[in-house]
Amino acid sequence: MGNSPDVDNQTDPSVLLDPQRLPRHVAIVMDGNGRWATRRGLSRLQGHQRGKDSARTVVEVARDLGIPYLTLFAFSNENWQRPAREVNFLMALLRRYLMTEAKRLCKRDIKLIVLGEMERLPASVREVLEETMRVTAGNRSMTLALALSYGGRQEIVRAVRSLAREVAQGKLDPEQIDEQLFASRLYTASLPDPDLLIRTSGELRLSNFLLFQLAYTELYFTDTLWPDFGEREFLNALVAYQSRERRFGTVPTSGVPARAAN
Ligand code: FPP
Repeated sequence: MGNSPDVDNQTDPSVLLDPQRLPRHVAIVMDGNGRWATRRGLSRLQGHQRGKDSARTVVEVARDLGIPYLTLFAFSNENWQRPAREVNFLMALLRRYLMTEAKRLCKRDIKLIVLGEMERLPASVREVLEETMRVTAGNRSMTLALALSYGGRQEIVRAVRSLAREVAQGKLDPEQIDEQLFASRLYTASLPDPDLLIRTSGELRLSNFLLFQLAYTELYFTDTLWPDFGEREFLNALVAYQSRERRFGTVPTSGVPARAAN
């Protein structure tokens, strides 16, 4: 994928990484589970199974590096239209992941939050999610946001509705609505905007992910399929991020970003 000078295969990307200039928030579209499986003559479900392991690896590497926010796009609004067997499998996988991961999240001081329509998830998944969020709520080293039943346009419409309701009730003057107030009504209200978006599997799309929040985010696309995305690939993405000059619409200032990355 030509968007970033990838580190050659011989170099250990960790030696190229500047620990002082890590992104605060990395968001990932975990794509390619189905293709990974099909190419091996396996069922798509086995691809998702392996995708879960990549998610675990990336969470642990991000946490160990000291990246404070990580968002994983685990299930989109559109994913409900997949065959029931696949949807059911993904829900069961998510439930198992949470059940086995809750302890690890606590041990590693990671807080879990959810972005999306939690109410659409099966009760069995919702219960485990709520419990995991409850037991990890006080954790501070990293926030892991799982985007579940999430869609960027729906999120924006929901925020508009919430503001419109307050205007209609006479509680809010439309002139008071600015970017900050709007952002406070998004699922991501407690998160800074992503500094880096990673999408695996060679697809060059946003697919309705964090449409408002990605305005100044650096985009990194890789052909690697999600189940093959491990520590090395994650570090490559971070090295590529550090090679970018972030200008936020202004002119270059001797290599110093025009505003603090957020
Ligand atoms: C996209 O691959 C992936 C998904 C729709 C689901 C993402 C889920 C996981 C990575 C596993 C579970 C994760 C957690 C955090 C428990 P695809 O099926 O669209 O692949 P394709 O484009 O090759 O068909």
